[in-house]
Amino acid sequence: MKKIGILTLTIMMVSFIGCNSSDNKAENNAQTGTTEETAVTKTKPSYGKIQHVDIKPEIDKAMAEQGLRIFDVTCTSCHKYDERYVGPPLRKVTQTRTPEYVMNMILDTETMIDNDDTVKCLLQEYMLKMPNMQVDEKDARSVLEHLREIAQQ
Ligand code: HEC
Repeated sequence: MKKIGILTLTIMMVSFIGCNSSDNKAENNAQTGTTEETAVTKTKPSYGKIQHVDIKPEIDKAMAEQGLRIFDVTCTSCHKYDERYVGPPLRKVTQTRTPEYVMNMILDTETMIDNDDTVKCLLQEYMLKMPNMQVDEKDARSVLEHLREIAQQ
């Protein structure tokens, strides 16, 4: 029995350490902008129903404005831009995650929480499952554009 207890503890510690280090990596990426790690993260395929998002280099202002309206109503109860709140801060999220990751967090939240290692670690940290907010794909795309815009401000 004692052995099993120690084993469980060790596994728990290892999984916590795993999460912490990937979190640090994400933070480093946010600070330095483009590291090699970011490049790897950015090309990684995402879990969830969105497998490709068309992104133009310049921000679509009208779309971003629409995204801000949806974000204010649907997301600000849990997310701030620069501070930890119920969920993680989102200002730099488009620099550390792929567009597909962000879209799937909004549209296919359950699949992301169940499968994506980054999200599993966030869940350990925030102790709450982000709910699927029932946003449609067009609105989710505009929220992504808003998040791309605030990342530059
Ligand atoms: C009820 C609270 C809640 C609401 C509302 C909410 N989220 Fe979340 N969100 C979370 C939590 C908590 C996490 C961390 C993952 C987890 O624990 O499920 C998260 C994680 C995320 C992530 C991943 C962040 C990262 O660093 O990888 C993104 C992106 C995100 N949310 C976007 C949104 C958007 C956009 C909306 C609005 C459409 C929204 N969330 C609404 C609680 C919420």
